Amino acid sequence: MSCRPNKRRVKNLQEIHFGEFCIETWYFSPYPEEFNDSPIIYICEFCLSYFISEFQLRRHVNKCTIMHPPGNEIYRDDEISFFEIDGARQSTYCQNLCLLSKLFLDHKSLTYDLLPFLFYIMCKQDQYGYHIIGYFSKEKNYTLNNLACILTIPPYQRKGYGRLLISFSYELSKIEGRIGSPERPLSDLGLLSYQQYWYETILEVLWDTKEIGDDYITIDEITAKTSITQSDVLFTLYESGICVYQGQVCIRLTEAMLNTSLNSVSKKRRINIENLKWSPPH
Ligand code: ACO
Ligand code: ZN
Repeated sequence: MSCRPNKRRVKNLQEIHFGEFCIETWYFSPYPEEFNDSPIIYICEFCLSYFISEFQLRRHVNKCTIMHPPGNEIYRDDEISFFEIDGARQSTYCQNLCLLSKLFLDHKSLTYDLLPFLFYIMCKQDQYGYHIIGYFSKEKNYTLNNLACILTIPPYQRKGYGRLLISFSYELSKIEGRIGSPERPLSDLGLLSYQQYWYETILEVLWDTKEIGDDYITIDEITAKTSITQSDVLFTLYESGICVYQGQVCIRLTEAMLNTSLNSVSKKRRINIENLKWSPPH
């Protein structure tokens, strides 16, 4: 999925059946034209193939042997796993994933050239297989954008999984020794999620700084610790009202920061870095 401004088109599908969920769609997605006559589309939650009737889906599911996204599992904890998928190797799966996610994204245009992209799929495991919760894509040879597109499947939204996806993208950047920022434009929900992640992450760094007895930290140091770009750090500091002294590279810790509840942040879902087995693809 690319970030070129997208000409809005009328929503063509009303609902998808996806695993245990019936999900109302949000936007147009270019599924083949014959699907336009069928307001509901039936999607295999493992291989993401799509069908016009429940009967066809059932017939497929009886034969479908795929139980997880077709790539390497690079992260696993008690609850979730991440799989890395190469758009060049798994073009059908990735195409199906982009069609699915376009149903919930209106400002991205669908690109059919998936070769330059990697896809990171977050799943929950049970006895039936790995159920997709969300994903993000990333250009293999990115200059700044460590994330191209992000989606949490709607029934899983507002449960902290978007934060986990964003956090994962920055953990990869840390391993790469690079800084990164999401591709623009961001959707409203994308912006809200990033703002919250940046704010909480920066606040934790400031808290740690205070804990070790330092009163000052530079923007570059925050960037080095978090892989969040200097401009995103500055944006967050301004937006959140944290005091910034313009013209200097330092910010000052204030009572406002210390009073902010890090307690609630500590209860949120987190990536446990010991469970991440990954090195940057060559
Ligand atoms: N209303 C208000 N705040 C919200 C909302 C909302 N509906 N959704 C997320 N937020 C903010 C909150 O601050 C939230 O933290 P909190 O719950 O502790 O207050 C924070 O974002 C993170 O919320 P999560 O539950 O971790 O995020 P979620 O799993 O819902 O995923 C995402 C966020 C991926 C943006 C999801 O809304 C989504 O898939 N939207 C549709 C696709 C989309 O717009 N993707 C982003 C496009 S931009 C790009 O791809 C680069
Ligand atoms: Zn299938």
